[in-house]
Amino acid sequence: MEKVEIYDTTLRDGEQSPGCSLNEHEKVQVAKQLERLHVDVIEAGFPAASPEDFRAVRNIAKAVKNSTVTGLARSIKSDIDTAWEALKDTENPRVHVFIATSPIHMADKLKKSPEEVLKMAISAVKYARSFFPQVEFSCEYASRSEYPFMSQVIEGAIKAGASVINLPDTVGFCSPEEYAKMFHYVQEHVSGIESVRLSCHCHNDLGMAAANTLASIEAGVRQVECTVNGVGERAGNAALEEIAVALHVRKDRYQMMTQLKMNEIAKTSQMVSQFMNSPIAATKPVVGANAFSHESGIHQDGVMKNPKTYEIISPSLIGLDSGKLVLGKHSGRHAFRAKALEMGIHLSEEQINQSFHAFKDLADQKKELDDQDFRHLFSHYAQPAIH
Ligand code: KIV
Ligand code: ZN
Repeated sequence: MEKVEIYDTTLRDGEQSPGCSLNEHEKVQVAKQLERLHVDVIEAGFPAASPEDFRAVRNIAKAVKNSTVTGLARSIKSDIDTAWEALKDTENPRVHVFIATSPIHMADKLKKSPEEVLKMAISAVKYARSFFPQVEFSCEYASRSEYPFMSQVIEGAIKAGASVINLPDTVGFCSPEEYAKMFHYVQEHVSGIESVRLSCHCHNDLGMAAANTLASIEAGVRQVECTVNGVGERAGNAALEEIAVALHVRKDRYQMMTQLKMNEIAKTSQMVSQFMNSPIAATKPVVGANAFSHESGIHQDGVMKNPKTYEIISPSLIGLDSGKLVLGKHSGRHAFRAKALEMGIHLSEEQINQSFHAFKDLADQKKELDDQDFRHLFSHYAQPAIH
């Protein structure tokens, strides 16, 4: 199987999301955890953005040994100089240089002509290559750029020494088919493209970030930019855990591997959620509290007989002990009896009938029952198990 590199931008694009900022110490801890997760590349920040960002990137560059560490830079010399100062002590320094290539960004944000943008891109990559062994170049808002012009920019960047070309869907506008088409286009029209690694970077404004990422892998992308828990600007970035698990569970389709240590996923997700003070929605794929929970009687019965009846992902894959049977008003007798046994209570058939009715009444009134509720219920109807 071919390998897809995982480029984590939790500490750069993720940290840009409102209310998610981390202090220097937390950033280093997250970076060390990302290293334990075996991500290939850690985008540690945007060194020219502020002295705090600079220090954080420098500290991470010194602390991380086994992942490539990179930092973002606009296509201007001073950003690249600052990035080099922050990253020069790391084992595998990379700079991530970018410039916008979409008509609206060039005209309204940069106030530059396409010719000026082309020139800036080429000279920035050339300059960056004079320090950095690895230069990644991004066409910001690639997905809404004019492909012939963008292809010229990419070709110029490759000739100037870029070894990774990243084409972001900056505002999460594309459908999977459209995003894949863009990568096919550049592979057909840019000379030298076969010598670089293609990278995707998807935002989730229309809920398609993970789907777009997977479509781009099928179109030849071999580096995926993503964040833990999908944190990021607006509706966030493509979620690392969703992509990693999709590639794992659907290897039959994608035929790709990553070097991730999958059983570090849950721990990483919890750390990021806690440090960023950013709770995870219960229904969030892979890491949400309900991702491995079952409440309905039919599902619980199936899972007790064979977890694979309703679980395509094993909780142990991401480092969790097991799934959870949630007892609520949709649950059945099998799960109810199992709960009693788990709490050391033996129930006769008659006691089950009586207490099960009482449980359903209670579950109708209360959304969530805790162990205290069950202890009460069982002590009313049952006797302790005889071992
Ligand atoms: O979304 C985006 O376009 C970015 C670039 C700076 C790579 O984050
Ligand atoms: Zn982004």
